[in-house]
Amino acid sequence: MLKSGDLQNLMATGEFITNSAEETFELAYQIGESLTGPTVFLLHGDLGAGKTVFTKGIAAGLDIDPAEVNSPTFTLVNQHDGRMKLYHLDLYRIEGGPREISALGLEEMLDQPDAVVVIEWPERLGGFSIPGAYRVTISDSGVESRHILIVL
Ligand SMILES: Nc1ncnc2c1ncn2[C@@H]1O[C@H](COP(=O)(O)OP(=O)(O)OP(=O)(O)O)[C@@H](O)[C@H]1O
Ligand SMILES: [Mg+2]
Repeated sequence: MLKSGDLQNLMATGEFITNSAEETFELAYQIGESLTGPTVFLLHGDLGAGKTVFTKGIAAGLDIDPAEVNSPTFTLVNQHDGRMKLYHLDLYRIEGGPREISALGLEEMLDQPDAVVVIEWPERLGGFSIPGAYRVTISDSGVESRHILIVL
């Protein structure tokens, strides 16, 4: 894995190139492992970019079985319990109206002191902004390689 940026004890921001799903998982695992407080990740990237792989890595770093983490087809939110709670949202299927967004219960999730919130397809949130969220952008840079940019 190519890294430019700092993978610190608390958090990773920077630019990374991974060459397999396992490397993306490992990067996210290290980030998940470093988390000690409430954190939000907005995962941007096309279908099949690797957002769910990244989420599985975060989950594993929170002592959650990554096999439990899947892109929900009908549920928009899955909750997993590890050393902190993980809320995994996949908003691909929502239209993004204000009522639909408030029905997600995001505000309640964000209020919790021990919750990590990971959102796939955060574009669907429209104007609903989440201060302090990490923005992760995953793009293809080859069949099995991905460019991953993490900014705060
Ligand atoms: N470097 C890589 N990092 C992550 N995934 C990779 C990489 N190389 C290949 N892959 C493959 O790309 C696919 C990523 O699938 P994943 O479900 O994580 O995408 P997604 O971004 O969540 O898509 P969706 O928007 O449909 O939910 C997997 O099949 C994975 O094995
Ligand atoms: Mg997914």
